[in-house]
Formats: sequence, C-alpha cells, structure tokens
Amino acid sequence: MFNQLLFIWIVNKNTMEFFEQLSSKYTAHSRHINDLFKDKLRAEKFSLNAADLYLDYSKQNITEQELASIISWAEDNNLSSKIAAMFCGEKINNTENRAVLHTVLRAPSTTKRDVLGGIAIEVEQAEQQMAKIVDEVSQGQLLSYSGKKFTDVLAIGIGGSYYGIKVGLSALHPYHATGLNVHVLANVDGAAVTEKLEKLTAESTLVVVISKTFTTQETMLNALAVKKWMLTALKSSDAIEKQWFAVSANVEQVKAFGLKESHILPMWDWVGGRFSLWSAVGLPLALAIGNEHFQQLKQGAHAMDMHFKEAGFSQNMPVLMALIGMWNRNGLNYQALAVLPYDHALRALPGYLQQTDMESNGKSVSNTGEKLAWATAPIVFGQEGTNGQHAFMQLMHQSDDIIPTDFIVALNGTSELVEHHKVLVANCFAQSEALMQGKTLEQAQAELVGEPPVKNLAAHKTMKGNTPSNTLLMNALTPESLGAVLALYEHKIFVQGVLWQLNSYDQWGVELGKELGTQVLALMDDNSVEHQMSDSSLHLIKAFTENKKL
Ligand code: F6P
Repeated sequence: MFNQLLFIWIVNKNTMEFFEQLSSKYTAHSRHINDLFKDKLRAEKFSLNAADLYLDYSKQNITEQELASIISWAEDNNLSSKIAAMFCGEKINNTENRAVLHTVLRAPSTTKRDVLGGIAIEVEQAEQQMAKIVDEVSQGQLLSYSGKKFTDVLAIGIGGSYYGIKVGLSALHPYHATGLNVHVLANVDGAAVTEKLEKLTAESTLVVVISKTFTTQETMLNALAVKKWMLTALKSSDAIEKQWFAVSANVEQVKAFGLKESHILPMWDWVGGRFSLWSAVGLPLALAIGNEHFQQLKQGAHAMDMHFKEAGFSQNMPVLMALIGMWNRNGLNYQALAVLPYDHALRALPGYLQQTDMESNGKSVSNTGEKLAWATAPIVFGQEGTNGQHAFMQLMHQSDDIIPTDFIVALNGTSELVEHHKVLVANCFAQSEALMQGKTLEQAQAELVGEPPVKNLAAHKTMKGNTPSNTLLMNALTPESLGAVLALYEHKIFVQGVLWQLNSYDQWGVELGKELGTQVLALMDDNSVEHQMSDSSLHLIKAFTENKKL
C-alpha cells in the first residue's frame, strides 16, 4: 500500500514537475517565438510530412532542447509500449474493461485476423453488408416500401454516433457520388425534427438509426418521432421493416423497436463512439459518397495509423502534436486550443474535435482513480476561416490570454473560383504570422507618425503576438486526406491521454446530467416525487410547468 502511494506520488510529482522545471529552466515564458527564427533552419527542422499531410510546427514556442527533453520523457513513460498495447488490442480502456481497436477497422484483412482472431469474420461480414446496402440503394435495387428509389437518407444519432458522419458529409461534399441526399438529426429539439421532416418524403426516405446502446434518450425520442411520421404517411409497419436500418450493439432493443435482424449492423464494445466512423456507423456517409470513396477515407486513416505506429517520436506527427500540446498546456499553462480550418468543407471539424478531445481527455483523475496534479485537455473551440477572424480572433490577438492554434488548409480548393482560394490561403498564413509576430507599442507609434493624433491610439493598436500555432497542410481535401487528419487527431489525443495517465476512452462525466435529467422530467409531471434538486432548479421547473402551453 505504502509502495503504491509512493509510486503514485512520484509519478504525479514527476509529470507536473517535469513540465514546470523544463519551462523555467529555459525561461520559456519570457521569450518570444519571433526570436527562435534566428535559427535559419528552424522552418525546415520543425516540420514534417506524413500520410500526405505536412505539419509546420516551427511557430510553436519550443526549442530543440525542450522538444528533445519532452520526447525522452515520453520514452521514459513507456509511450512506445502503450502504443503497441493499443494496436494489439490490450484492454486499455480499463474502467470499462475494453480494448480500443478502431484502427483495426481500417486495416487490411490480414491485420484484422491477426488482431481480432475469429471476430475478424464478423467485422468483414459487416463491411460487406454495409457495402451491399450502399450499392443496392444507390443503384435502385433496394427500394422503398412502395417500390420507389430512395432519394434521401436520414441518419439519427448523437455524439459519436453523429459528429463523424457530419464532418464527413460536409468535408467530402464534392465526393457525393450516389445522388442520395443524406441528412443528420441529433438534437432532441422538436424544431430540428420538424425542420428535417419538412424536407423529406416518407415514401423515398431511408432511415438509419445509429446508437451503440440504443437507449440514448435523444436518439430514441427522435427515432420514435420519425417512425410516427413515416407510419402516418405510409400507413404500414412494413415500411419500417423495409426502409429502416440500425447500427447498434444492442440487437434486442433494436428488434423491440420494430426492425428486422437483417437490417441491423453491428457495433462492438472495442470501438468507442467517438472513434466509430470507420465502422458501420459510417453507413450514412458511405450512402452519400459511395463505397470507393469510403474505402479511400479508411485508407487515408490507415496510412496515418502506420506512420504513428512505426515512426520514431521525433518524426512522428501525432506524437509531436501531442507533446507540443502538452508543453502548451502544462509547461506554458495555456488553457485552450483553437482549431481553425481555412476550408468551408471542414466547418464541422472544430465541433467534431471538441467531442473527440474534450470527451476523451477532459478528466482529472488517473486511470487508477487518483486525483491528477496537472491540467489535462484544453478547451477546444474554433470555426472555419476567415469567419473566425471577424469574431473571436480579436480576443486571440489582443486579450492577455494566449490561445495556441491549429490552422488547417488545403493547397488546392475544390471550387473553380481560384482567386477565392488564393485569398483564403493568404488569410490563413497571415493569421498565424500575426498571432506570432504581434505588434509592439513602438511599431504602432511609428505607423502613426503623421496621422491626426488620437489619445493613446498606439496602445489600442498593439498586439501581444507570441501565440504558438501549428499549420497543417494538405494538397487537397480528399477522402484520403480527411481520413489522415481524423486519425492524426485520434492518435494525438491517445498520446496525451497516456502521458496524462488517464483513460481517454470512457466518459463518466456525462452520466450525472442524464440521471438528474430523469428526475427533472419526473418533477415536471409530479412535483411530489423524490429528488435531489436545488431550489433554483425547482423554481425553473415551476416556471416551465406553469407557463407551458401544451
Ligand atoms: O455523450 C455520451 C455518449 O455516450 C457518447 O460517448 C456517445 O457517442 C453518445 O453518447 C451516443 O451514444 P449511443 O451511440 O449509445 O447512442
């Protein structure tokens, strides 16, 4: 017991002290990134290619010595063996006693067999089932209840059963190849349901309900509302059997909902919701982009997997992004991370990464349940550029908070408006430069010489600069490059979770809200039920019950 406590104390102290000591040793807080460019080879040294992506991290506030120290610290903390453990299916999700094997879903058959053994057959059958549905629906062989070709697909799911599909649908819009219009419905808001259904015709809409548990309140309520809509329009329960599919680990519950077994695609406990796009959860996306493009998406992710598994840490893109992210969080004490894709098609990426990162690593106890003595996941936010420039980026330039940023941009756009793309890319590059360079009072004063005097105007025009950023380039946004980007962030998050010593693959933090939500619902119908609500919430519930019109 004593030994265990001593070990925990040392490990906790080491991790916290490591970053604190490293940043004070090199006085990292008081230097300016601009000065690091005195090294004329910096841009070359602090950049790398992997899986057809190019990462420039030279605008980070980190030196070669610091990075080398962090890399050897990661090695000392057994990162290599943890990476191997994930890829070979050890149960690294210890609180749920599960392996974490989304990577195997995008790996070749031989790897599937090596890692999964007999279950590989099940996985391949699911892939075939999914591909068959995509082909038959898009080619008009699988028809609606009344014999119509499907025009629309409605995917119902939330969280990990939604974000990946959403990001894929918008990112790969130019690759929509089947002619099907795919819609997603997540939020438990009647207005969202009505808005979707207004666009759809029951006779030609295929519905896919995605829920690992098939108990998620939002998804179930939405699925029931859409079922009612379809039954009212088509007046036959056969329509549900014919036009609905589900992706779930809970087969019994799906059957009880009214779907036949042949329309249920599996999910496995070794694939976490927010890492599940690569499974049959991707069905709605595959229905939009077709099987070939969906395969390319997986191939891009697999290329990043192989790079992550095999490259040395100093040339390993996910590892470097993770370590630099930890340096920013624990060494320089920056609290947030802005993700700014300069790409309309990637507008859903910041939301997707909010879930992947914050639901994975937004924790403060170790995987063995001890309080962690260091900060973990940053607050992730963002928007597509240039829109963010005309909104929150004012704060990034001139508040006292330094917000590390990931810029993401494709060198070639998909639109024929090439001038637009040039301006978009120019803005992206200019923002990373402005965030880093800043503007001193002296520079601002010099620019104002000869202008009509306005009191203290120069002070208003100074910019703090010194904001670190990564710039991630791809040649073009394709299924492959999107797959590589998503896998890059998945692995970055995994590495950070390992080194923060937490379990990235559970999400207990969402449970209390669900429990209290059940109590609130009960109190809305009967104010005498037992509850744990504060007076504040009781007043709010009263306001609801007294004022609701229906
Ligand atoms: O938000 C909690 C969560 O459990 C996510 O992790 C998950 O992706 C989402 O809810 C949806 O869960 P399910 O797929 O079981 O409906």
